[in-house]
Amino acid sequence: MNRKGIILAGGAGTRLYPMTRAVSKQLLPVFDKPTVYYPLTTLMLSGVREILLISTPHDKAAFETLLGDGSQWGLEVRYAVQPEPGGLAQAFLIGREFIEGHPSALVLGDNLFHGDGLHGKLERVAARDDGATIFGYWVKDPSAYGVAVVDDEGRVTDLEEKPAHPRSHQAIPGLYFYDSSVVEKVERLEPSARGELEITDLNRLYLEDGRLRLEQLGRGVAWFDTGTPDLLLQAANYIQAVQSRHSLMVACPEEVAWRMGWIDDDELVALGRKLNGTSYGRYLRELVEDPLE
Ligand code: DAU
Repeated sequence: MNRKGIILAGGAGTRLYPMTRAVSKQLLPVFDKPTVYYPLTTLMLSGVREILLISTPHDKAAFETLLGDGSQWGLEVRYAVQPEPGGLAQAFLIGREFIEGHPSALVLGDNLFHGDGLHGKLERVAARDDGATIFGYWVKDPSAYGVAVVDDEGRVTDLEEKPAHPRSHQAIPGLYFYDSSVVEKVERLEPSARGELEITDLNRLYLEDGRLRLEQLGRGVAWFDTGTPDLLLQAANYIQAVQSRHSLMVACPEEVAWRMGWIDDDELVALGRKLNGTSYGRYLRELVEDPLE
């Protein structure tokens, strides 16, 4: 059954204030494109084509202007709102009808993934219909994140949300793959002390069922949660450096759609022509008209 994708781009967190006073952070740029393009293309590289974007009531229209119905990129993009930040797992209650018993993937609208081998890994993970898959990423201090405690064989033994004294270095990035039982599991969750339906509590239900897998994202993969000014700048610098060395873009939805075979050469060139006079439009046209490989 085809997997459905949710991008959660609601309005939690004040660490980027006042930049986020007028506009959600997922609409701010990471170097040369809106932040949301990065998680969007992560879903696309997982093979996901039906996507629900959940945002604040205030920013829904801006996301619709930016992404449209997705058909220009071979996607189906729909929109929903989360009136208040009720937790990451709430995405599955908001998206209940959209998911309709399909397997799904959730990505946080401010999380950026890039690196060699990521595409293949995402496709492998997305092909599993049973259980849940989360990712592990070694960081020096994971206390600002969900944390996985892992045994010698790489199996998760415990999960903690923002522990003051982390028992491992494995931060859990904001990308989660679930089987079709996810909505029923979220319905069983109680809000945490901070009043949110916690993604870590959802993942713990899968862990208790023995159906939680952890995939390691190694040193060759970059992961940023762009929720602080420092991380936003670091992510922008990283994208600028990688793109200028390769002359290839990171997280260009038009290019990903074309490489995935969802739009053809003519459609890519036409999208490039619409952006005539911009380096972005020229880049799209040159992928077909002046290929590097
Ligand atoms: O970035 C990965 C981390 O994301 C995970 O390691 C944690 O386990 C997970 O709880 C989350 O931690 P954050 O501290 O980053 O969560 P935050 O509340 O900042 O929300 C993350 C993003 O999701 C943020 O861009 C806003 C959005 N969000 C958050 C909540 C709670 C929503 O759209 N709706 C919400 O209800």
